[in-house]
Amino acid sequence: MEMNKLFTIGVLTSGGDSPGMNPAIRAVVRAAHTNNADVLGVVDGYEGLLNGEFRHLGVRDVGGILQRGGTILQTSRSPRFMEAKGQREAIRRMNEAGMDALIVIGGEGSLKGAYALHQQGVKVIGLPGSIDNDVWGTDISIGTDTAMNTIMDAVDKLRDTASSHRRAFLIETMGRNCGYLAAMTGIVCGAEIILIPEVHVTVEEVGKIIEDAYTRGKTHAIIINAEGSGHNTTELANALEAMDVGFTTRVTILGHIQRGGSPTAYDRLLACRMGVKAVEGLLEGKSGVMTGLKGQDIEYTPLEDVISNKRTANLEYYQMTRVLAR
Ligand code: F6P
Repeated sequence: MEMNKLFTIGVLTSGGDSPGMNPAIRAVVRAAHTNNADVLGVVDGYEGLLNGEFRHLGVRDVGGILQRGGTILQTSRSPRFMEAKGQREAIRRMNEAGMDALIVIGGEGSLKGAYALHQQGVKVIGLPGSIDNDVWGTDISIGTDTAMNTIMDAVDKLRDTASSHRRAFLIETMGRNCGYLAAMTGIVCGAEIILIPEVHVTVEEVGKIIEDAYTRGKTHAIIINAEGSGHNTTELANALEAMDVGFTTRVTILGHIQRGGSPTAYDRLLACRMGVKAVEGLLEGKSGVMTGLKGQDIEYTPLEDVISNKRTANLEYYQMTRVLAR
């Protein structure tokens, strides 16, 4: 253990893991030590905060993790922490361990937890980590770019087989209640249509679009269905078969494969920039904010704004998908 550090920062990852969490942890640890601060890694997200599961992180402890997906600290969803009793216990554990501040890397729910701690006097800064890109206050979250590349890679492969058989493929992507991930991937995957929670499209309309594509001479059709769109992917495929749209249909549900893998260069850069910015912010006395990408810059946004605003898919992407599918 390195001695004589003036300030101790806790760092945790929470909620669904996202590629880039490890580079973010590494950045926090290395920036903290550079500024003569110490770091305690919290194992297992808020669950570990409650249970006092802390481990000292020196600069060498985060060597070799820059390229690794997942999170070396592990993560959890902690219903116990969402209650006042759990939060009180977590603060007691932090005080006991001499933790002066906390950095939380996670999605919407995790940032809500961070705000609750801030309201109770804990110094805390959040980093948006989620493949869903549903966090308000940042153009993009850590992990979204890697997930988008994973989906793109899968759809490129599916398109090869789709064209060979003249098939329509329905591909289900993650994103919970937000269509952002699906909207972006629709463009880069050359989808015929994307189905997202923000736009209501009937089964008949989907059938018409796919039938038109067949009539225009297309050899394949890609339909990206966001998990929260309101359409069950398998049922929709069966309905298209029954409507006889020209193509035969097949289904691929990508599932958790979207959450794994080595973070892309983009996600590594984003995670490193945000990790350093969070440490700088804490050492300057900032608290109750989240780091976010705004244009070219990493800026702070109050956590209160982050959790009280809903981020929805960019509908320009939705329209653009249709234009580019001609
Ligand atoms: O928030 C990330 C996410 O992968 C969502 O896209 C998805 O709805 C959810 O987490 C899945 O959660 P779990 O890993 O608990 O099944």
